[in-house]
Amino acid sequence: MAEPRTHLIGLLLGAEEDWPTAFESLLALVGPITTDDGVTHELTSERLTIEPFDLRQPVRTELVIDRLAHWYYHPREWLKKAALVDDVYLLNSPFTFQSMEKHSAYCALMRLGLKVPQTVLVPYKNPVDNVRWAYTSAKYNRPFDLKQLAGNLGYPLYMKPFDGGGWRGVSRIDDEQDLVRAYDESGEMLMHLQATIDYDVFARALSIGPETMVMNFRPEEPMHNRYAVSHGFLSPSAGRETAALSRIVNAFFGWEFNSCEMLVKGDDVYPIDYANACPDVAVTSLHYYFPWAIKALVRWSAYCLVTGRRSRTVDLETRRYFDLADRADLSDKEKLDAYLAIADEYFETAAYEQWCARHLGHLDSAALEWFGSDDFTRMLRRTVETTYPEPERERFMAHFQGLLGLWFRDEEARLAVRG
Ligand SMILES: Nc1ncnc2c1ncn2[C@@H]1O[C@H](COP(=O)(O)OP(=O)(O)OP(=O)(O)O)[C@@H](O)[C@H]1O
Ligand SMILES: [Mg+2]
Repeated sequence: MAEPRTHLIGLLLGAEEDWPTAFESLLALVGPITTDDGVTHELTSERLTIEPFDLRQPVRTELVIDRLAHWYYHPREWLKKAALVDDVYLLNSPFTFQSMEKHSAYCALMRLGLKVPQTVLVPYKNPVDNVRWAYTSAKYNRPFDLKQLAGNLGYPLYMKPFDGGGWRGVSRIDDEQDLVRAYDESGEMLMHLQATIDYDVFARALSIGPETMVMNFRPEEPMHNRYAVSHGFLSPSAGRETAALSRIVNAFFGWEFNSCEMLVKGDDVYPIDYANACPDVAVTSLHYYFPWAIKALVRWSAYCLVTGRRSRTVDLETRRYFDLADRADLSDKEKLDAYLAIADEYFETAAYEQWCARHLGHLDSAALEWFGSDDFTRMLRRTVETTYPEPERERFMAHFQGLLGLWFRDEEARLAVRG
């Protein structure tokens, strides 16, 4: 008899309780997985704590889902040690997420020939505090005409930090007065000026491994209402492209848990934000799509651990993409297909789908039962209690129960058809 194996998933968490609770509950439903070689694999998870660590002391977890590295140095450096010394699989890689941000994603996608809106990076309004700056600035900082740059892009335009997220420092600029004020207020943030895309639909894609959900996003709505439950809101071509782009950018940078924002006008897809190291997966944002997200996290983690998938750590294959981008004999569509083929190779998409069908076939109905259980309702209630003030709680509870009830019925119907 082959020795059974236990795989430990580490969760590096901040204030969130909702998705970790759901993840832990669904992971427990996976049960032992026996592979063709007769080995039985058990999957468990643990919430990791932050403490001193010896750089040589082996790490117990084989895979970490991280929600802290983007904000805090200690867990970030622990993750780097875990990846470099112990070969721990990370969602996400702090190496590429810290050196690449919204700006790098724009550059990469431009290089691949995609429709990133015209974007200009301007020098700091207030340079970082450094005693040598005065000399450097006097000697090398060229005066520039902000109004002229903005005029070339045209109004309205967007001014936003090169590494932004969560609307921090984002403003829509309607005229020169707005422009000067926003730039003055940008202070020590490094800013992009970006041409406005006049769009029909905002598509926001959440990607977990090779799985992607493209959702109809309404940024003007309050948080609980931003994701509309809508199917078929894009033309077939835009639908295909939005899903492909998300997988491509993730494979390109080695990101495996990310959300991507695209503005869609007719069949044209304009990427505007492709780097979210800590994508929003709150039940109070995703509601209807929450069960999918948690199942995808469980499936991808299980696949990586049981098949022994190795992370690339810092190895990227940018040259393969660029060689395609530079070919004059390929159309845009052919290039997209070719990038997607590399991305599918990176994510082992076909093997992953087969593996899930073979080893996780029971997860959908087990998850359906869990999302219909009192355990889930309690988790939802706790989340609502910590998210909203008392007078609004009943209303929000009913709102999310309604949306998740809708998911439940759709999922029941889907599983019945599938048999
Ligand atoms: N080029 C653009 N054309 C039209 N609208 C834009 C453009 N850039 C940004 N916006 C609007 O501004 C919002 C915030 O921009 P962006 O996503 O780049 O910033 P962010 O800080 O990452 O915000 P979030 O966390 O909401 O994604 C977008 O959701 C969109 O509504
Ligand atoms: Mg954004």
